Amino acid sequence: MIHKCLFPVAGYGTRFLPATKSMPKEMLPIVNKPLVQYGVEEAVAAGMKDMAFITGRGKRAIADHFDISYELEKEIAGSSKEAYLTDIRKLIDSINCTFTRQKKMMGLGHAILCGETLIGQEAFGVVLADDLCFGEGDEVLAQMTKLYEQFRCSIVAVMEVPKEEAHKYGVIEGEALRDDLFRVTSMVEKPAPGEEPSNLAVIGRYILTPDIFSILRETPPGKNGEIQLTDALLQQAQHGCVMAYKFKGKRFDCGSVEGFVEATNYCFENIYAKK
Ligand code: G1P
Repeated sequence: MIHKCLFPVAGYGTRFLPATKSMPKEMLPIVNKPLVQYGVEEAVAAGMKDMAFITGRGKRAIADHFDISYELEKEIAGSSKEAYLTDIRKLIDSINCTFTRQKKMMGLGHAILCGETLIGQEAFGVVLADDLCFGEGDEVLAQMTKLYEQFRCSIVAVMEVPKEEAHKYGVIEGEALRDDLFRVTSMVEKPAPGEEPSNLAVIGRYILTPDIFSILRETPPGKNGEIQLTDALLQQAQHGCVMAYKFKGKRFDCGSVEGFVEATNYCFENIYAKK
């Protein structure tokens, strides 16, 4: 069973300026719920209870969101407006949140390494909240934890992308075990055009085994001078095993304006309007 989920939420959200100048990008709402809450709900649906946030300066709204707001509660107690807080109250009651700060932006690998003391020596989930996922059947992270029970190694979620989009992602090369499952043999972070090893791009859902921390500590800066999780996962794949899983469901890149608008329309039509 995987209990812990790590949320790297220290990033600047530059693609959403000026909206993200003083507000964390993870607090941008898709309809009426912030992105990070969708991510935490997905982790809870996968059986996880301990949420570890790697935050940074200017991200306090995230910690406040997962805490009780006494003034607000007192103000609306007994009124019909209380109903708006039902879901988030239940969520807060069902999780433990821990926070640590990433002092310098040195890449996703570095952010994950900052979470070592919050995670310890157990396998854990990772959710990049600006990738909003809706699973078909089980949610995406729950699909992955089931696979973890079987394989007991790190798992990355992948999806097919057109070649011209591959440069935005970590891209894997793998040996197919099933239609939707590959044993990773190679991995490249944001390959240059024409150098992508396949059309299978990693999205922001991972299950990682804790040996990733010692690998990350030894991982030199890679693409863009940052410590890349992709490079550490390649080491794990070469010395052990990493699986790539073509998840069942939808994923929206809410770090881009286009993806954000698409996700908003999708959620409005398929979730909000059907309540
Ligand atoms: C990160 C990872 C990349 C992955 C992507 C998924 O990149 O480094 O391998 O494909 O998330 O969203 P970022 O989008 O943070 O640049």
